[in-house]
This record gives sequence, structure tokens and C-alpha cells, in this order.
Amino acid sequence: MKNAKFGTKAVHAGQEVDPLTGALLSPLYMTSTYCWDQETRERYLSGDKEGIYTYGRSRNPNQNELQEKIAALEGAERCLVTASGMAAISLAVLNAAHSGDHVIAYKTIYSGSFKLFTQIFEEFKIEVSFVEDFSDETIAKVMQPNTKVLYAETVANPTMTVLDIDAFAACAKKNNLVSIVDSTFTTPYMVRPLEHGVDVVVHSTTKYLNGHGDLIGGAIVGKSSYIDKIRSSIYQELGPVPSPFSCWLMLRGMKTLHLRMRQHCENALVVAKWLEANDKIESVEYPGLESHPNFELSKRLFGEAGSGGMISFIVKGGLDKATKFADNVEIAKYCVSLGDCDTMIQQPPLQTHGMLKPEVRRAMGIEDGLVRLSVGIEDVEDIINSLESALSLI
Ligand SMILES: Cc1ncc(COP(=O)(O)O)c(C=O)c1O
Repeated sequence: MKNAKFGTKAVHAGQEVDPLTGALLSPLYMTSTYCWDQETRERYLSGDKEGIYTYGRSRNPNQNELQEKIAALEGAERCLVTASGMAAISLAVLNAAHSGDHVIAYKTIYSGSFKLFTQIFEEFKIEVSFVEDFSDETIAKVMQPNTKVLYAETVANPTMTVLDIDAFAACAKKNNLVSIVDSTFTTPYMVRPLEHGVDVVVHSTTKYLNGHGDLIGGAIVGKSSYIDKIRSSIYQELGPVPSPFSCWLMLRGMKTLHLRMRQHCENALVVAKWLEANDKIESVEYPGLESHPNFELSKRLFGEAGSGGMISFIVKGGLDKATKFADNVEIAKYCVSLGDCDTMIQQPPLQTHGMLKPEVRRAMGIEDGLVRLSVGIEDVEDIINSLESALSLI
């Protein structure tokens, strides 16, 4: 299946007929421990650990299958899945940056990552500098002898700034840093950052990769040397292993990744154009719009795939008008998270980034009237009708 196309890999990669029963899909292995007979014990002790399971905190068969699927889609040597996206980000960074080290990150990132990098890492004595860009000039200003990691999101949450992944990876190589990108918004359907020279990709699989809003999960992909080191050290002992059931659900969700992403991208472009033409909307941030500053970059990186399912826009009249509008979009549930089949709406200044001080939020580019829409895979006419009725109320 090595040369198979993306959709074929999404359906088949990692999947093997169950040797015991012939079941097409893997059974769910809900067990915490695995029994060894004498032969297994001797094999394990001789160093041949292939196919031997020990304890559910280390790994489980459903997890292995899922890791193979994600690695195949990302074109990675290895994948390690975790119990949440935040666990994936924490482990990926902590594998390279230890107490006394320094990290450089893009200024706009998911608020949970921002909190991790500021409050939690501060306690760990890991310093983080936030930058506007990854130009030589900017990096020279913040670079230190103890800098270990360069970090950014492929498309920044929630401002929709697209990362020039090639330039980012080149910057890391030049400065001997580990480059880590969060590709949650893009998924391997839109871009495979490892092919652009990035060292490590992290995902909140809670979002598009699973796509059905029924679990929390994360993934780290990259070279075997990097991932195996995480698995044998901090992963094993911090214990963020996902449950076999979450992995099983993920495997089911990922079979339709290419179909869902195609529909998310198609719908979002139509919705973004419609919003841009509406006089109650001040501005729309969607990389697929010609007016977006990263339109050309988005075409270069994402090609025919489209520009994703996420749109951020500012409603004229500030926070109150934005709230009244967001409360009344019938098709879209008012909730955090993104990437589900269902359209979802949220206000970053009140929800995802609400815990940040207003000045910190604004420095990230998050205005009070900002609304974030995760465009679902419903019929796009219904999404637009719902947006239109809600806008008519303000
Ligand atoms: C871009 C991005 N990365 C990481 C996360 C964290 O993922 P999780 O909630 O699965 O821990 C989120 C959550 O919203 C996110 O939007």
C-alpha cells in the first residue's frame, strides 16, 4: 500500500484482518494488562520484543494500528498517539527542551499551548520567546546558546495566519533547532510538513483527524529516533496513553478524512466569500480568499486541497453584536473545539482565548468582535441561511 493515494491510505493503512477470527476490522482490546507464557517471557528477555504487549500504559493494539495509519498519511517514519493534543505538544517540546533551555514560538498559538509555554514552562525553567516571524533578523534578536526548539502552527489559531513551512524548517536547520509544527488546522490532507523539512508534527486528533467530536486525542509524528525517545522516556512515565476505545473510534473516523476535508474546504470557501460580501462583517480571515495576505502562500502549500474549514471574521459593532450574532446561528452550536462534521461557532475573546489578558489577546491579533467558525460538512446553503438569519438580528 506504499504507493497508494491519500484516500486509499486513509481507508486501509494500518488495518489488518484479525488473525484469530478473520474480522475485517480490529476488535477492541479493552484490557489493562497482557499475559506472558514462558516462550513470550524468554523472547522478551532476549531482546526480541516484536509484537509483545505488556501493560496498557505502554501501548495497546488499537493504538498501534492508529499510529500506522497516521504515520502513513503524514509520510512519517513513526507516530505516537496521546490522550490529548496538549499531551502531544507537551511531550514533543519537552523531548528537546529541558530545564534551563529556551524555545522560540510564533506569537499566535492556541491558548492552551500559550499557557503551557508561559505558565507551566516557566515553572520548569524553560524560557519561551514569542516572535512575529521567522526571518533571520528576528531570530538573531532572540536566539540564545540554549535555544532548542522552534514552534508554530501551520495555520495560526485563531488569526488564520499561514506559516511559510519551508522557511520555518530552513530557519530551524540553519540554527540547529528542532522544528515542531502543530498541523491540527491543516491535517495531512492539506499539507505534510515533514515533506517541507520540518522535524516533528503534532496534532490535536480531537479535531479533523477524528472528525466526529466524540473523543479527545493527540499525535506526534517524525523520525523514529525522536519518537522512540519520547515513548521510552517521558511517555511511559507521565502516562498520557489514549484508551483503546478512543483509538478504535479514531480509526473509524479517519477512514473518511479525505471526504470530510474536501467538503470542509469547499464549504468554507463558499461561506468565506459570502461573509466577505456582507456589509455587517468588517473583515474575514480565510487563506482561500484573494484578499488574504497569505493567499499565494496557501496555494503553494495546500495546492488543490483547498484552504481548510476554519474561518475567523470580525463582526461590525464589537463584542456585543458579535455575541448576539453567534448566539443565533441556528445550525452552528456555540462551543469550543473544531473540525467536526457539525458547524461550530465560538468567540475567541470569550472562550478559547478568554483566559488571556485583553492586551495579551490583542497582541496576538484577537479583536473583541472576532468570531471563529468551524465550517462543517452540512449542505452549504443551510449554513449560509443560518448565518444570514443571525446577521439580520444585529
Ligand atoms: C491548534 C490546536 N492545537 C492543540 C489543541 C489542544 O488539543 P486538545 O484539546 O486535544 O488537547 C487545540 C485545541 O483546541 C488546538 O486548537
